[in-house]
Amino acid sequence: MQRVRLKLGKRSYQIIVGSGILKSLGKRILRLDIGRDAYIITNSFLKKRFGRDLERWLSACGIKSKFKTVPDSERSKSIAQASGAITGLAGFDLARRVFIIAFGGGVIGDLAGFVASVYKRGIPYLQVPTTLLAQVDSSIGGKTGVDLRQGKNLIGAFYQPRLVLSDVSILSTLDIRQVRAGLAEVVKYAAIKDKVLFFYLENNYKDILSCRKDALEYVVGRCSRIKAEIVAGDEREEKGLRTILNFGHTIGHAIEAASSYRGYNHGEAIALGMLCAVRLGVILGLTAQGLEQRVASLLKKIGLPCRIKGLSLERIIAAHYRDKKFIGKKNKFVLVANIGRAKIVEDIPLETIKRSIKEVISPA
Ligand SMILES: NC(=O)c1ccc[n+]([C@@H]2O[C@H](COP(=O)([O-])OP(=O)(O)OC[C@H]3O[C@@H](n4cnc5c(N)ncnc54)[C@H](O)[C@@H]3O)[C@@H](O)[C@H]2O)c1
Ligand SMILES: [Zn+2]
Repeated sequence: MQRVRLKLGKRSYQIIVGSGILKSLGKRILRLDIGRDAYIITNSFLKKRFGRDLERWLSACGIKSKFKTVPDSERSKSIAQASGAITGLAGFDLARRVFIIAFGGGVIGDLAGFVASVYKRGIPYLQVPTTLLAQVDSSIGGKTGVDLRQGKNLIGAFYQPRLVLSDVSILSTLDIRQVRAGLAEVVKYAAIKDKVLFFYLENNYKDILSCRKDALEYVVGRCSRIKAEIVAGDEREEKGLRTILNFGHTIGHAIEAASSYRGYNHGEAIALGMLCAVRLGVILGLTAQGLEQRVASLLKKIGLPCRIKGLSLERIIAAHYRDKKFIGKKNKFVLVANIGRAKIVEDIPLETIKRSIKEVISPA
């Protein structure tokens, strides 16, 4: 088991990573002294598979649970779902010491965190992430929110959980495409911050793809530590430190948006975005050439896409400029000089950006 502390003064919390640790959740909640009424936001698959055990383990610690299930996928990150969850929460909140458990992937984590941030101006919540992506990324750092028709994450708040409990044994039911998507974020952390993790991935990617628990625990622990350090230094993304977590995300988001969130999933789009970023770095003379090959070969071995298919350069560029982060601002890219060494570069000429994307697009 690994413990990582995210240091944020009074809002500090622990990230616990291990296998088979879900059963310890109740006793950890008692230690936090946040109440005995757990409102568990999850989906029907997870409730069916783990609900009875979870309820029993919590009840053994004197904690009452109420499940709120939301539909699968991004559709649940909506004001309508948030409103439904808040209404259910208010009905359950009779003893006045209710807290929320976000038991699901990034969608449920973002939604539940948002609900916790606004109900009674903020109640405690815990993240119990169940996808690889959520364990290495979205459950940590307190970014919560829901989407609007006009764009993703447009309504939200920075609101930190009181605990993150990542039980890697829960990941064994994930389908392989989801494991790969989570691994794209792991490659991101390794590329920007952790040479040792990068070597590890090159040598052990098969163990992770087959959900070997020791490999997953190592990787989730390592990524949690990196994210915790970065967030502790720049909680609200004001100092530029947290920006490096956007490696691959600038073009990645544009690829996701250009495919109307139906083609590539987030991790796949980020894999392509990282390839565009390393290409851009090579064109600008900032990225070592060998690095491009290593990143591409690792992504390929993992089974992530290495060529953009079915999207034109024009569509990707149009989506890039629609991104809320770029309106009226200079463009900003996270590039990597070498494995583990990220660099932020601003104001790159549009023609150079286009060239890098074009070179990652599959020839027709
Ligand atoms: N808050 C942040 O800092 C942050 C960071 C990155 C991403 N995100 C957000 O996270 C979301 C994506 O998260 P995600 O990739 O986890 O997607 P997700 O939550 O949609 O989960 C992916 C799929 O896996 C299923 N699932 C979850 N756990 C499972 C399990 N143990 N076994 C089998 N199936 C399981 C879900 O039902 C869903 O169908 C996006 O909305 C994104 O914006 C937030
Ligand atoms: Zn991401």
